[in-house]
Amino acid sequence: MAETTEVQRGLEDVVALESRICFIDGKQGRLLYQGYDIRDLAKGATFEEVAYLLWYGRLPNAAQLAELRVRLAGLRTLPAPFAERLAAFPVSAHPMDVLRCAVSELALFEPDETRPGPSSIGGAQRLAAVIPTIVGTFHRRRMGRAPPDPRPDLSAAGYLLYALLDREPTELESRCLDVALILHADHELNASTFAARVTASTLSDLYSAITSAVGTLKGPLHGGANERVMELLAAIGSPDRAEAAVKERLAKHERIMGFGHRVYKVEDPRATILRDWSRRMGETKGDLHYFEILRAVEEVVHREKGLYPNVDLYSGSVYTLMGFPPDLFTPIFAASRVAGWTAHVLEEYDDLRLIRPTAKYVGAVDLAYTPIGGRP
Ligand code: SDX
Repeated sequence: MAETTEVQRGLEDVVALESRICFIDGKQGRLLYQGYDIRDLAKGATFEEVAYLLWYGRLPNAAQLAELRVRLAGLRTLPAPFAERLAAFPVSAHPMDVLRCAVSELALFEPDETRPGPSSIGGAQRLAAVIPTIVGTFHRRRMGRAPPDPRPDLSAAGYLLYALLDREPTELESRCLDVALILHADHELNASTFAARVTASTLSDLYSAITSAVGTLKGPLHGGANERVMELLAAIGSPDRAEAAVKERLAKHERIMGFGHRVYKVEDPRATILRDWSRRMGETKGDLHYFEILRAVEEVVHREKGLYPNVDLYSGSVYTLMGFPPDLFTPIFAASRVAGWTAHVLEEYDDLRLIRPTAKYVGAVDLAYTPIGGRP
């Protein structure tokens, strides 16, 4: 084993494993899923097509896509005893905590789905189908509404909006959410995907791996940033106050959520696409003030810190314009990223190696043990 004591904090630039699922060119700002450019997929594909691509390594033909859509729609319902458990979760809980507990508890009712190994593709599709139902059932209950119906007539994106907001999606909203789900579906070894792979690498089960991922995505430095962006916009209030507000935060060495990235050294290509959807959705809804404040913030942050927007900067404005409350933004991220998480878990099961880095020990050594009676 190579003797090295050079610590790479945060595992920055450490190549941990080989994968075929996702390629990021941080210098060029390019993102590929199984070899296909995200810009092409966002233009022409659906989330179901992209999930199929991530799981099987190739794009589906029309029959395969139709079959997957029917299968996913058939996997949207909750087992009755689990639904009772979910109904007992406190409505004061954060939806990401609800989702983390729900995925973990669901495993108790679906031992076959969660079993590790090649059959986990069934569990992967189950989780992709049922996460909108879990989040939607919880959110509807705290709004005093009934749980969602399975609605096989709706696409994954359409069902996500219906399940959460208890209304029919417009065509533009369905397409916009479909693109957002495509953009969030995978991103190589981001923290939550890495957490899932570490869990799977011990041969632990699929739902345990996804529970690890959900808990990791919640963090504001990762998936939780989109919720914090909207708090910033509310605090700023108007585009002309962006400069002072951003400078004030930077002077206090605060992070501006939605900016910066461990891998991208130029604009995150997903932010480019979501910026345009934020404008389009704002024009359609007759409310461009989020977009205008974000553009003003972008200009100041880039000028003052040389930072670029990441995927989390514009997503919140798009979701807000559709009517989603901020604490549902990261669950929406999870409803998409579960396709990537599960694809990586399947890849790990297929070529398993226990993930176990080492630490550079900097603590004390060879201390003499003093029995309790002899200690001051
Ligand atoms: C996601 O990994 C993925 O792929 C994640 C993701 C995915 O699809 O899975 O892309 C999704 O998580 C996007 C990132 C969402 N998070 C945020 O928007 C939170 C704000 N951003 C940061 O905290 C930060 O940019 C990180 C965590 C995303 C990356 O940080 P790094 O690579 O650890 O960089 P760093 O913290 O060492 O910062 C380098 C410099 C520092 O300046 P100095 O202290 O050296 O002077 O850049 C500064 C930082 O202060 N900096 C920021 C900043 N991000 C970095 N300064 C102000 N605001 C920021 N957002």
